[in-house]
Amino acid sequence: MGLKEEILRRRTFGIVSHPDAGKTTLTEKLLLFGGAIHVAGAVKSNKIKKGATSDFMEIERQRGISVATSVMGFEYSGYKINILDTPGHQDFQEDTFRTLTAVDSVIIVIDAAKGVEPQTEKLMSVCRMRKTPVIVFINKMDRPSSDTFDLLDDIEKQLMIKVRPLSWPINNGPEFKGVYNIFDSSLSLFNPSITDIEKGIRFENLDDPQLDQLIGNDAVVLREDLEMVEGIYPEFDHHAYLAGELAPVFFGSALYNFGVRELLDTFVRLAPSPRPKKSEERVVNPEEETFTGFVFKIHANIDPNHRSRIAFVKICSGMFERNKNYRHIRLAKNFKYSSPTAFMADKKEVIESAFPGDIIGLPDTGNFVIGDTVTEGEILHYKGIPSFSPEIFRYIENADPMRSKQLAKGVDQLMDEGVAQLFTSQLNGRKIIGTVGALQFEVIEYRLEHEYNAKCRWESISLHKACWIESDDKAVLDDFKKRKYNKMATDKQGRDVFLADSSFILDMAQRDFPKIKFHFTSEF
Ligand code: G4P
Repeated sequence: MGLKEEILRRRTFGIVSHPDAGKTTLTEKLLLFGGAIHVAGAVKSNKIKKGATSDFMEIERQRGISVATSVMGFEYSGYKINILDTPGHQDFQEDTFRTLTAVDSVIIVIDAAKGVEPQTEKLMSVCRMRKTPVIVFINKMDRPSSDTFDLLDDIEKQLMIKVRPLSWPINNGPEFKGVYNIFDSSLSLFNPSITDIEKGIRFENLDDPQLDQLIGNDAVVLREDLEMVEGIYPEFDHHAYLAGELAPVFFGSALYNFGVRELLDTFVRLAPSPRPKKSEERVVNPEEETFTGFVFKIHANIDPNHRSRIAFVKICSGMFERNKNYRHIRLAKNFKYSSPTAFMADKKEVIESAFPGDIIGLPDTGNFVIGDTVTEGEILHYKGIPSFSPEIFRYIENADPMRSKQLAKGVDQLMDEGVAQLFTSQLNGRKIIGTVGALQFEVIEYRLEHEYNAKCRWESISLHKACWIESDDKAVLDDFKKRKYNKMATDKQGRDVFLADSSFILDMAQRDFPKIKFHFTSEF
């Protein structure tokens, strides 16, 4: 198979949801259909259990599991599918955002009874920003849920995207009878005691009396509903979906393995294969012969006895080959990788080659940071992996004077992994760690101790936000930095960061210094 065919058959996507909507269950069912696993329960939930915020073992468990299940590749109907898993816990949101830079499309899972929840909205806003094509799967139809039309209205309003149902539920809760696949004109009947893979019954004509025999009076309601669907929603527009402007909607019950095949079969046909990607220098086409890729995730020290890390690389163009020399752009050095791994659903294996859309794991001894680009020599910088303005801050202090080197190294590496952000105060040179979630401080402390043999102590600091500042007018910038001397810091790259005490002070600063740009993500 040539490069082009390999690209066209790849589907790399992420499944996202508010915790408990059914992301893990759906992922598992997709893997069952793909034959990638054979028993339910093989995919462990990678979420941190509620209330376990102080349970360090839980954090460790989560890290151990997430490397195994964070990328799941499998073959289905001639397609190579790569599912990228994202952490459910909101303190790890930034990890999720970064993973979304490596997907070509997204499936959003919504709980039919709960509708759109806060995290669904946030995740959707990231997809909207990047114009990522989105499919919505409304899950748990076996539970009593809101009126389907109301649910769709709710999604359209809250997620700010046009929707188009491509399947339709027949009733819900205890009366749930099945789903009608509008895209395929086929009906799948629900039987909670049969959770095997079953094919739907096809109907060329909805007036077919067999439909009435199968679902009785619900057939009448289904016909009316479908007529309304056709009246309310315009024809499904594939281009609008690919442009991220229209979300096709499917219904089902992941737990009962229902509506999942409809989703998967339609997904592989609709969802995009890897698409051109912007770099600072130019747009790169996946079909280009030369290999390029970027690091979107680093997973460190899985085995504390070995200082090993795995850099997760998304291939953007060309074919990646084992033992070939590739250029690490930031370090301006060439490296060869003798044991790149592919992530299959239930195992990790060394591969000889990989194609655009694939995610490979490169064993790393500390050369990579998130966002690094690797090529065959061309100077390229892939964009789009911003860090967000952190909102929780603490001074980090060394609690074991004999181990300051270990602490510095540990902090440095954890920052490269994207666990948190490090700022150095201009006033007193103290180190400040900024995060988006409180759990990160526990993760940092625990990992410093267990992986780097270093001890840290936290000291609270009350800040509202850290934002990056720049200006074309050097004099204005210098004046600002002088006046805000005790609230200025630098980030790891040496860039200027303003630490605002409150939103009021931030607003004032923005008003008083119109020539200064305040940035709330690290990429500008
Ligand atoms: P998440 O990854 O999005 O956080 O959700 P997960 O799949 O873990 O599902 C959350 C809970 O919802 C689980 O129950 C799961 O069994 C249930 N669930 C998922 N899909 C469906 C569905 O289609 N119908 C119904 N009725 N329930 C569904 P749990 O009791 O929290 O966990 P477990 O003990 O069953 O694992």
